Amino acid sequence: MKLLFVASEGAPYAKSGGLGDVIQGLPVELSKRKDVEVTVILPFYRSIKFGSDFQMEYVTSFATMLSWRQIYTGVFKAVSRSRKLTYYFIDNEYYFNRDGMYGDYDDGERYAFFSKAVLESLQYLNYYPDVIHCHDWQTALVPVFLKANYQFGAYQNIKTVFTIHNIEYQGKMPDSFCDEILGLGEEWKNVLHFDDCLNLMKGAIVTADKLTTVSKTYSHEILYAYFSHGLDGILRENQYKLCGITNGLDTDVFNPKKDGKLFLNYGPGDVEGKAANKRHLQERLGLEVRDDVPVVALISRLVAHKGLELVEFMANQLMSMDLQFVVIGTGESRFEDCFRFMEYQYPGKMSANILFDSALASQVYAGADLFLMPSKSEPCGLSQLIAMRYGTVPIVRETGGLFDTVPALNTESLEGRGFTFKLFNAHDMLGAVERAVEFYHNREQWNKHIKNIMKYNSGWKNPADEYLGLYQELTEY
Ligand code: GLC
Repeated sequence: MKLLFVASEGAPYAKSGGLGDVIQGLPVELSKRKDVEVTVILPFYRSIKFGSDFQMEYVTSFATMLSWRQIYTGVFKAVSRSRKLTYYFIDNEYYFNRDGMYGDYDDGERYAFFSKAVLESLQYLNYYPDVIHCHDWQTALVPVFLKANYQFGAYQNIKTVFTIHNIEYQGKMPDSFCDEILGLGEEWKNVLHFDDCLNLMKGAIVTADKLTTVSKTYSHEILYAYFSHGLDGILRENQYKLCGITNGLDTDVFNPKKDGKLFLNYGPGDVEGKAANKRHLQERLGLEVRDDVPVVALISRLVAHKGLELVEFMANQLMSMDLQFVVIGTGESRFEDCFRFMEYQYPGKMSANILFDSALASQVYAGADLFLMPSKSEPCGLSQLIAMRYGTVPIVRETGGLFDTVPALNTESLEGRGFTFKLFNAHDMLGAVERAVEFYHNREQWNKHIKNIMKYNSGWKNPADEYLGLYQELTEY
């Protein structure tokens, strides 16, 4: 089976968040399977093209039509290590030779070009996949263009899967975009139009052959207005093709036994190794060096749907407990300021790191005891999986992928994985933290549990099996 992944980011080439990790872990795992060949196509961003980390070779160039314009399109290929996993990059300096990946005024046009160029490239590469798997709004136009402009030759047999990693970002464009940029007629305007504008994600929901979300629970949640950011109606109409497959974690990349950024590497059951990382972390961050106090970590983009208002509301109650609190992340100034103020109020107990530093993040995953993730919604979430891999017990709200990957812990039988709360309520969150802190002092049970969660198999094997089943279902007909 030939699978083509199309996405706006994929590690190790380009990554801004969880999507980048998925577009590494899943293709790598699938390419190990018998009779499966995987190709990934990404934009040739400045950092990839002019960075010194990757070796590329030129493959071909042609023009992509976007409405009345002919746009130069280059295709480059990563000099690869594996015959079964190929990476191509779509080159156009006007669109992609810029700093960063997202946030430009013309992102809609940039990713419309990318989506069309990917489809156009297939005939020049003479490569026709069985399934194209697209991700998030940036590639939502792939199934739309495929149906609108490519119903000829070998293109006609290609099936499409569209994965929603986060329904909050839908790619909303003015109506004029349809004709002026996409070059699509009135009938396609209806497919894309939603709520007074064009909505690219809606276009993919309607035109893709299968829809998936990155956890089972999220696939049910987005059928309700509370989670759907307006798209619940259209999703309910297309529910027959929707399913949820919970993400895995690249357990080679996230591995405390090998992670070169740690003070000391450790494996399951190595209580002393983890304790040494904790001492090192406390020293590095100016926290009181104590091994009898739980360190609670929060590593997140500091935005509202991560549930930070619960922490803000409970700041003083939290800090009046005998615990230490470490935050890493950037985002809305309201939350950045809240955490800075907490650090000022509680020196030696609280450390606010308003930045993103992956080395520090690794050290916090390793050195902390508890990991707080009170998200209002969470399509899947990766941090709770990383935390468990590093022996750090998650405290989560029961939503989306958090619900699927962190079943509530029974502190007697040690079934389950973490401390959970159901309602989006600050006192319920505080209650979960209190229960976690109490359990922390039950050292014998605690150490057993740490060993269990470090051994939990959160890798890509099972999710890749489920995706393969889905692709097979599509290509059988
Ligand atoms: C998005 C979601 C996150 C998920 C990631 C990868 O970033 O917000 O929950 O883990 O995509 O699928």
